[in-house]
Amino acid sequence: MKSVELADVKNKNIFLRVDFNIDLDEKGNILSDFRIKAVIPTIQFLLSAGAAKIIIASHLGKPKGRDEKLSLKLIAEYLGKLLNQPVVFINDCIGERVKKEVADAPVGSIIILENLRFYEGEEKNDDGFAEQLAGLADVFVNDAFGVCHRENASVAAITRFLPSYAGLLLKKEIENLNKVKDNFEKPLVLILGGAKISTKLPLINNFLSKADKILLGGGLANTVLKSRGKEIGKSIFEPELLTEAQKLNAENIVMPRDFLIGNSLEDGQARVTLAENITINDWILDIGPNALEDFSSIIGQAKTIIWNGPVGYLENPVFSQGTNKIIEVIAKSQAFSVVGGGETLLALEKNKNFDKMRFVSTGGGAMLSYLSGEEMPGLKYLN
Ligand code: 3PG
Repeated sequence: MKSVELADVKNKNIFLRVDFNIDLDEKGNILSDFRIKAVIPTIQFLLSAGAAKIIIASHLGKPKGRDEKLSLKLIAEYLGKLLNQPVVFINDCIGERVKKEVADAPVGSIIILENLRFYEGEEKNDDGFAEQLAGLADVFVNDAFGVCHRENASVAAITRFLPSYAGLLLKKEIENLNKVKDNFEKPLVLILGGAKISTKLPLINNFLSKADKILLGGGLANTVLKSRGKEIGKSIFEPELLTEAQKLNAENIVMPRDFLIGNSLEDGQARVTLAENITINDWILDIGPNALEDFSSIIGQAKTIIWNGPVGYLENPVFSQGTNKIIEVIAKSQAFSVVGGGETLLALEKNKNFDKMRFVSTGGGAMLSYLSGEEMPGLKYLN
């Protein structure tokens, strides 16, 4: 993969694809700036290497056409504050007006275009759309690891029109993920949670014979329990995945021995219940103290850790205990730990141990895809 350090960027306009697909509250406030801060080294590198103008582009959410609630305007302002320099926001991403505004911006400008997904050409990987984006710049830099698993115009088709390079964040992601993907130190422990097993099955299957232990929690563990004929009460699970989940019976798969149960999602009190004692009205909302003891001891012995997905229902603090404890155990461990996933990240950001993770990936689905060994469109065309 060619890194931007090898590119001739002097006096060139750079099309910098980033992943600013971040969580916003109802008022549009930024809930996590992790993905924004993560691309600052690339922006600074490009400025110091003499790039003429940096044209930053991202998607945000899944809009159907133009949707002002998913505008990148506030993110542009926020980036300006972080960089301590003005950032020009253009409220569109293709067309004559955008071309003119880019041309009129002074040398040294940092420009952010409007949400790429306001145009369906983005997700359709449309050549015409990609060519219009490419027309704004001389060099393409992909620093959007989080979206490299999508065959989208601004990460895939655009590489047909411009010399293309990986940004510093993308390079760092690949270097760190490679440390846990192939040449890892054993014991290797995976901790997988979150609502859906469907999104994690390729990863589980890829690591089934490589990992020493695979610890399951969250909604995905419910699907495995249900597939084994166990009662899970009213807890979430994926009915269409039961046959696949039933095959997960290898010895290295570790299920929680007990759970924290609620009577509803909003319950202010948790009951501890052994896995075999769940009844039809129960909601499994977190892993229990025995499970935490098992998980902590296994994690404590690991030399390499991969974690994606919380093991409990984080919207209710009563059921965040298991996830927080896992953060603490990983923070104390000497193992090389790679952590990722949107919800995991939100849990980490609320916890004082964020900086003790050895590497936090900006990718959610992208991290899973890379570690599953899938060919990712955003990387394929950079190679
Ligand atoms: C992510 O947040 O995982 C990426 O930005 C990809 O977003 P998407 O799932 O909407 O394609």
